[in-house]
Amino acid sequence: MLLEQYKHAIEASNIVSKTDVYGIITFVNEEFCNISGYTQEELIGANHNIVRHPDVPEENFVKLWDVICRKKTYTNTVKNLAKDGSTFYVNTTITPILDENDEIVEYIAIRYDVTSQMELKFKLEAKEKELEDLNKKLEEKVILKTKEIEDLNIVFHQARLASMGQMIANIAHQWRQPLTSLNLALFNIKKEAKKGNIDIVEAMYNNTKNTIKNMSETLENFTDFFKPNKIKTKFSVKNSINESISLLGKTILDEHISIKTNIEDAKLTGVSNELTQVFINLIQNSKDAFISNKISNRIILLTIKQDNNILIIDFKDNAGGITTDIIESIFEPYFTTKHQYQGTGLGLFMSKMICEQSFDGNISVNSQDNTTVFRIELPIKE
Ligand SMILES: Nc1ncnc2c1ncn2[C@@H]1O[C@H](COP(=O)(O)OP(=O)(O)O)[C@@H](O)[C@H]1O
Ligand SMILES: [Mg+2]
Repeated sequence: MLLEQYKHAIEASNIVSKTDVYGIITFVNEEFCNISGYTQEELIGANHNIVRHPDVPEENFVKLWDVICRKKTYTNTVKNLAKDGSTFYVNTTITPILDENDEIVEYIAIRYDVTSQMELKFKLEAKEKELEDLNKKLEEKVILKTKEIEDLNIVFHQARLASMGQMIANIAHQWRQPLTSLNLALFNIKKEAKKGNIDIVEAMYNNTKNTIKNMSETLENFTDFFKPNKIKTKFSVKNSINESISLLGKTILDEHISIKTNIEDAKLTGVSNELTQVFINLIQNSKDAFISNKISNRIILLTIKQDNNILIIDFKDNAGGITTDIIESIFEPYFTTKHQYQGTGLGLFMSKMICEQSFDGNISVNSQDNTTVFRIELPIKE
């Protein structure tokens, strides 16, 4: 009676089947029929492998039979195939039933449905995989971005070296003439000294001292400019422009370039030298274009005005213009139309970086006929 109650309890709450020693089904409960989709008639007498799923490898069954033939209980989560082709998962326990001689007479299998848990588990695994892939992609992105930053650092470094090179060329240019006059002065001093004209020697000596002082000032100006000074200050745009014009003073003079300005001064906050560098780049480019295009009347017009909180700087030259086929490329690093030793193609790239990154502004270009206008727009922050 008690046994009957147990049996009833188990059958009511589980999926139960029994097979003979050969695996032929001898009993199924209603739950088994429900989940497998077969009727009791179809199941009784059939081999238990009727619900076997083709995905399950052969060795699983070898193992199962090995365990139960040794009169042990086998427990596993099994993937099964229902009549309609759908898959269900059951947590299965197969127990051999022994007679009084300890011989196996039949097997009883008790299962419960774990399909929804398994599906959840698969979904979770899929999500985990997705996450892993996402992580991988992110890692790749970080590596790529790091590489980009490294490349940019190299470009900045090269740009700095290039502008230092240009500055050294400028110093050399500015020194050439005083060096010649010093040479001459020394020769004359020696001559007058031999003659014993102490007064003349004295006068010449004072003269040369002045020349040397000028040379030293030139050097100091350039050195100041290249000090790695990154301190942000409030500075006058007009001063920054004058600084660039003064550093290139001799070149501007020798190349007969006339710089006209119409400046409504304003104060900007940032590294003043960086803006000076932008003007130097623009002036140098105009100078190069004036020379290569053999322009005789060389004019640069610099206009600065304020529009609301934006400072608009127009840098205009009549140096021949920029053709439409290259104008899109001129801000790209390493783009140059100049000879290898004259251009690095970094001037405008650097200028753009300074306008955008350091001053939150922008630089654009417009060229018509033989004139070019570079427009720099910088926000004035209080
Ligand atoms: N004012 C200008 N007039 C004509 N062409 C210009 C001017 N400014 C720039 N360019 C063109 O843009 C190119 C890129 O300039 P830049 O970045 O300063 O590099 P680089 O001066 O080393 O060539 C120059 O090679 C030149 O062809
Ligand atoms: Mg340049």
